[in-house]
Amino acid sequence: MQHLVTIENTGETFRCLEEDNVLRGMEQLQRKGIPVGCRNGGCGVCKVQVLGGLYLKRKMSRGVISAEEEAGGCVLACKIYPQSDLRVEVVGKMARAVEARKSASFDFGFATMTKINQPEEEK
Ligand code: FES
Repeated sequence: MQHLVTIENTGETFRCLEEDNVLRGMEQLQRKGIPVGCRNGGCGVCKVQVLGGLYLKRKMSRGVISAEEEAGGCVLACKIYPQSDLRVEVVGKMARAVEARKSASFDFGFATMTKINQPEEEK
């Protein structure tokens, strides 16, 4: 079964299978600039704050996620599996890349819009 995951930093959404971890779903967005680390709960690069929804979690290194963080929903995207629609905020080292990419998208859209609005050449 698939669930909808929303990245609150950017408003982007993606579908993620219950048996796939959220980081794998994020990678499917195929956005450059998302740093992917160990994919195994040890480096902390994929830290997210879950704002809503249900998920299963697997063991995470205490070196990168404290028990208090985990209890408060701050977890590693590579170690959580959605069991309902989820809302997450990227808070780890990945956050800057995610938010920078959002700005880059805006710039690209503006450039495209400029081109579209140019008057057609007269023949
Ligand atoms: S990618 Fe290393 S902890 Fe998730």
